[in-house]
Amino acid sequence: MITPVILSGGSGTRLWPLSREMQPKQLLALAGDRTMLQETALRLEGFMQVQGSGSTIVVCNNEHRFMAAEQLRSVGIADSRIVLEPVGRNTAPALTLAALAASRAGDEDPILLVMPADHVVIDRDAFQSAVASGLPAAGNGAIVTFGIVPVRPETGYGYIRTGVRRDDGALKLVAFVEKPNLDRAAEYVASGEYLWNSGLFMMRASVWLRALEALNPSMSAACTQAFDAAAQDADFLRIDPQSFAACPSDSIDYAVMEKLASQKSLGIDGVVVPMSAGWSDVGAWDALWDVMEKDAAGNAHFGETIAEGCEGSLLYGGGRLVAGVGLKDVIVVETPDAVLVADKSCTQDVKKIVTRLKAEG
Ligand code: GDD
Ligand code: MG
Repeated sequence: MITPVILSGGSGTRLWPLSREMQPKQLLALAGDRTMLQETALRLEGFMQVQGSGSTIVVCNNEHRFMAAEQLRSVGIADSRIVLEPVGRNTAPALTLAALAASRAGDEDPILLVMPADHVVIDRDAFQSAVASGLPAAGNGAIVTFGIVPVRPETGYGYIRTGVRRDDGALKLVAFVEKPNLDRAAEYVASGEYLWNSGLFMMRASVWLRALEALNPSMSAACTQAFDAAAQDADFLRIDPQSFAACPSDSIDYAVMEKLASQKSLGIDGVVVPMSAGWSDVGAWDALWDVMEKDAAGNAHFGETIAEGCEGSLLYGGGRLVAGVGLKDVIVVETPDAVLVADKSCTQDVKKIVTRLKAEG
């Protein structure tokens, strides 16, 4: 039995000015009719009926509870369990809360499929068949990652060194390196031995809880305490603010995945299932441009826009008409109270604007 877990707590600062604290990117319909949270929740549609599944667990910030609940309801997902974090403590605690919720609900040690809420996956069938390929290994107690063939030395991703194929069909995970520097990333891409970590994971709830307890006992204890003191409020499970505030902050990748291959005594294997499903981490504006439909000159449009002599650009109209003339590889994003104009090669730096705005109050 698979229990889908959606991590929906990021703030998406690199997609400013569209993505804001109260409306982070996963709650926005960036490139289609549905929000990224809705798309994620529907990604297993069809597959779940075949395999059988537990109800979806969504872990998000308390502030976003009504938006998240309403978005799920409006696409027909009525039986989700929503776990509310009073503060963000990164992905390892978020997954731990979900694993506790799944295992305490009386589900028989479910297999969790952990999905970030802010990714685009174009080929749903290929996604579902990758999940199916990873199921035997997850059932056998491994932590399954899904690897993407790298196309550039991206420093914002994790890199997985793959090994030989196991009997259950998955590849052994030989090493996991989270966010290497540019030289390292270039070496890994050139070697042909590494895949990008897609950020999706699959494992039994008990396996995750055991790994965390061994590798990060203070995080494990803080999460358990915060979970035990949680309050059920209608459909929401409110995690206890005081004990969760004391929880160390770290990601799944640093807290567990990087250590897994070297900690043989744990007895938990890491494995990789290659995935080719039109995956994209829509982390910044250039990545969104990548996955959007384009005109003959490679311009992506949203809202009311006119492009004259433009190439490779993104014109994003949030309400007013956006007109571009002679732009090349430029991102223009119009919203009611802010307009972004950025070179497409510098979109990672948009988060610096957000940092400055916060500092300047
Ligand atoms: N509930 C909750 N709480 N969710 C969170 C939190 C939190 O505190 N922090 C992040 N998330 C969610 C984000 O919304 C996102 O959907 C997902 O968890 C991953 O977090 P990111 O912060 O976007 O991670 P990343 O992109 O830097 O790195 C991860 O993803 C890459 C691929 O996109 C890693 O797993 C990398 O190894 C991987 O390559
Ligand atoms: Mg991300």
